[in-house]
Amino acid sequence: MTNSQNTHSTQNTFLVAGATGTVGREVVRELLDRGHAVRALTRDPAKAEFPEGVEAVRGDLGEPATLKAALEGVTGLHLITFTGGGYEPLETGPEILALAREAGVRRVTVLNGGGPTPLQDAVCAGELDWTVVMPVEFMANTLEWAEAVRTEGEVRAPFVDRVSALVHEGDIGAVIAVALTEEGHAGQEYVVTGPQALTLREKVAALAEARGSDITLVELTEEEAAAGMRAQGHDDATIAWLLDVYKNTPPVGRTVVDTVQRLTGRPARTFAQWAAEHAASFR
Ligand SMILES: NC(=O)c1ccc[n+]([C@@H]2O[C@H](COP(=O)([O-])OP(=O)(O)OC[C@H]3O[C@@H](n4cnc5c(N)ncnc54)[C@H](OP(=O)(O)O)[C@@H]3O)[C@@H](O)[C@H]2O)c1
Repeated sequence: MTNSQNTHSTQNTFLVAGATGTVGREVVRELLDRGHAVRALTRDPAKAEFPEGVEAVRGDLGEPATLKAALEGVTGLHLITFTGGGYEPLETGPEILALAREAGVRRVTVLNGGGPTPLQDAVCAGELDWTVVMPVEFMANTLEWAEAVRTEGEVRAPFVDRVSALVHEGDIGAVIAVALTEEGHAGQEYVVTGPQALTLREKVAALAEARGSDITLVELTEEEAAAGMRAQGHDDATIAWLLDVYKNTPPVGRTVVDTVQRLTGRPARTFAQWAAEHAASFR
């Protein structure tokens, strides 16, 4: 390789928060596929498993000082907006951004948590190039049915005719990787959906097809669904919020948009594809 090729090497270093999570692990994979160096942030590197070549770095977004070393030499940063298993909104955005700026970070992506949050507000008010990625319902949410499908052959859920444009988490990761690595996405807020709006009934049918045997769909009343959520430990406010989202999925949650195709140059993956990839979890 000549000196000039070295100078123009396109490998950059990216720090990915939420890297052990549903979306973050896809961001890691996409950045690796593009030939970049990836640092995966986790509060507990001993528990985390990352693909070969990924550098696991310990850090807590709730304690920005712990991020200083992880940010050294980083070109782009992917952020989540919450902390902990209870998804409490992070209040540390301004400190995280100040450290990122000091470290020379140029681009930040934010995985939107379903509405404005203090961290997202701080990123959008800041000086770094930012892109907000707003996915609708993840296809991976259907994994919550896996155990009942395996053991009882059934899905018990309310509002079986509700429609959702659910999205493959790999496509969310791909959109984030494009926004982090390519020009032209600064100041954009991208809604990300799958290629079809499906009813819950249609989702269950796709899972049955993928696993090769029938699934009985038992429609719960709102009261039965609330009782089930209460038994899982959800509080009343969360139950009311969840039921409202299920019952009155807003237009943005059920309207297909072409963000995946537009940014990545390939079609958004279907739920049938997702179901085929995860069939073993439902057998
Ligand atoms: N599910 C949906 O349908 C849906 C739809 C749209 C938007 N969303 C949004 O997506 C987000 C959830 O993403 P996900 O499902 O990919 O997450 P997830 O699978 O629940 O994983 C949570 C991640 O957050 C990390 N984390 C939590 N607190 C942290 C902290 N203080 N410091 C550093 N890392 C921390 C965890 O890392 P460690 O434990 O390794 O430290 C883990 O990687 C939420 O904002 C949600 O509102 C979800």
